[in-house]
Amino acid sequence: MGKWSPPTGTADIGADEISEWKLLESTAEKIFPLYGYSELRTPVFEYTEVFSKGLGDQTEVVQKEMYTFEDRGGRSLTLRPEGTAGIIRSLAATDVMNGNEKKVFYYGPMFRGEKPAAGRRRQFHQIGVESVGKVNSTLDAESIAMLMRYLEELGLSNSKLMLSTRGSSEDRETAEKELYKYFSEHISQMCDDCRKRINSNIWRILDCKEERCQKFINSAPDLVSQFSDESRNYFKRVCKELDSIGIKYEYAPKMVRGLDYYEHTVFEIIHEGLGAQDSIAGGGRYHLDLPRMKKPMKGVGFALGMERLIMARKSMKLESDSKQSCDIYLVALGENANNKSFSIAEKLRKNNLSVQSSFENKSMKAQMRAANRNSAKFALIIGDSELENKKYTFKNMKNGDQTELTEEDLIDYFKN
Ligand code: HAM
Repeated sequence: MGKWSPPTGTADIGADEISEWKLLESTAEKIFPLYGYSELRTPVFEYTEVFSKGLGDQTEVVQKEMYTFEDRGGRSLTLRPEGTAGIIRSLAATDVMNGNEKKVFYYGPMFRGEKPAAGRRRQFHQIGVESVGKVNSTLDAESIAMLMRYLEELGLSNSKLMLSTRGSSEDRETAEKELYKYFSEHISQMCDDCRKRINSNIWRILDCKEERCQKFINSAPDLVSQFSDESRNYFKRVCKELDSIGIKYEYAPKMVRGLDYYEHTVFEIIHEGLGAQDSIAGGGRYHLDLPRMKKPMKGVGFALGMERLIMARKSMKLESDSKQSCDIYLVALGENANNKSFSIAEKLRKNNLSVQSSFENKSMKAQMRAANRNSAKFALIIGDSELENKKYTFKNMKNGDQTELTEEDLIDYFKN
């Protein structure tokens, strides 16, 4: 780690990649409103209980990964590890509680104290959406359709949609007993982590990557077939609705979503260009409970990992050119020219031209080199004779052509 590196698991986002980030954001701003979603910005920290209650006490995120601190008044605050809980906290104050639907999208930094790896950071960024207040299988299908549309717009239609259902909380209680019965017979041959998971969060066993656990996981009972008719029919409707608009998916009955608030539909998007952290998005239907809320709020949504989207686009050689060029580089020769170049620069910028200059008394050669370094399209040379004649040498940096122009000519040149 270098002396000036940012904290482990975080990164600076510089000029060389900022256009990719803006593209992800502007594409969200273009696609999501077509489905009736509007933007909502919530704070990057919340009272800790919003997450501990909202995401579930037993989730790995709450138990091991949250950045929690006390403020000066002794209140416990946490940097948001995900966006959904804060969005629900914000919407709880609106008429969504009376059954009025709200559709919102958001983007920004999230924080999880995970072990950093390629595609896994401690400060990462998500683009997310939530449709809150109504339960309807068509809304689940619509949310997935919007996600696929977003990916298509970014050139990532080769992503794979994995789809499953977690059933209702009653279904899960029955399923959990079934899982416990099955795994307790094999747990002595499984890894240490799974031995802990069997009592703390048995579902995570299904997500274990250890070689020795795989055969037991693969032969685990089919839980979905034991869900209630109502839950299975709900899922069938979602599948049928996706079929009706030609969205392809792979049924993944053993999919584990890391957060506890999910019920019924769950999904993930996998992109093969990513290696081990191959999930670029995840989501599903949820019921989220917050402190002092009379009943859980129901919704459906998803979040995309922005770092991973950019990696996926890179793997497909889709990344946009971030190199910033400048329209005009002012080459000023001498003290008077320097003063003049400062005022010319302002005038040109008022006409929406991007202008740079060193404002230093350097040689012509050094300043022309700087113009090239800044990818300038044109150079304007201001020397003593130019100041006297009020006509400046205007040089095309690409083909070397030169002409003499007044300030007004210059502005007209760009206007035309
Ligand atoms: P999640 O699956 O925890 O879901 O995260 C969604 C996406 O965020 C992941 O698929 C991944 O691309 C990205 N991500 C997660 N952790 C990291 C990390 N440490 N580094 C880089 N990228 C990461 C949620 O957060 C839910 N709130 C999604 C949701 C919204 N469900 C319903 N509504």
